[in-house]
Amino acid sequence: MYEARFPDPDRLAGRWAEDCLRRHAAGPRVLDMGCGTGRDAAQLHAAGRTVTGADLSEAMLAHARVHHPGPAYVRADLCGFDLGRAAFDAVVCLDSSLLYCHTNDQLDGFLASCRRALAPGGLLVAEMRNGAYFLGRTDLLDTPSDNAFSWQGTAYRSTTTLSVDRTAQLLRRTRVWTADDGDEGDGGPSSVEQRSAWRLLFPQELRHFLAAHGFEVLELHDGPGPRTEPPWRDGQLPGSTTDADRLHVVARLISSH
Ligand SMILES: C[S@@+](CC[C@H](N)C(=O)[O-])C[C@H]1O[C@@H](n2cnc3c(N)ncnc32)[C@H](O)[C@@H]1O
Repeated sequence: MYEARFPDPDRLAGRWAEDCLRRHAAGPRVLDMGCGTGRDAAQLHAAGRTVTGADLSEAMLAHARVHHPGPAYVRADLCGFDLGRAAFDAVVCLDSSLLYCHTNDQLDGFLASCRRALAPGGLLVAEMRNGAYFLGRTDLLDTPSDNAFSWQGTAYRSTTTLSVDRTAQLLRRTRVWTADDGDEGDGGPSSVEQRSAWRLLFPQELRHFLAAHGFEVLELHDGPGPRTEPPWRDGQLPGSTTDADRLHVVARLISSH
């Protein structure tokens, strides 16, 4: 359902990540943290890399093993994981997975885990919402957004409301799903409310966290990327501003423990 709701038929996210890895001459061993359905991990595997996909959700991992074989899939919490010291040449973290680190301690836990997981000179490649976009802009907060799509013969609609929790520095999302699946017995639609939240991480704050954990920032920009408008195309180089709603970072581990 995630892939139906957020289609990526051209595998842009995986191709973009591979482009970052290649431009910075990353070695072959890649960890995809918060790999979700596994489609990006599988794309990196198809590009010739040795990939481990990790996620907290057993349901996502089960889907990935069946539908996107090739990578190894393991359960791990991105806020603190140990998948072996210097076991990877790169960690990728796509579609805001990194922002499930809500607190500073969780961000520290993620970066300390990446530092342990990476070989010297290893890369961190991440793509996420840009907290700075919400400074002085309310367009994404003002009105709920509606979406409709079909999956396995059932029509789904979702209404999404975003709000900013300034104290916790979180973007909170409430999404109400309605499915015309006749679950109520009277043939009417059934609904489910889903709540989620992302850290509102600012570009200079991210620089500070990365430096504190031994990383040098190689790229930090708002596009082009796989989820920008217009989207990234093969061969396009990164920009240098961090104003728009997506944030992309490539950082190199220069000081391991
Ligand atoms: C928005 S999805 C992105 C999935 C994938 N990276 C993609 O781009 O298609 C976020 C993923 O992060 C996972 N996740 C959330 N919290 C996590 C945590 N603490 N540790 C590991 N994975 C987590 C979710 O299960 C979900 O699969």
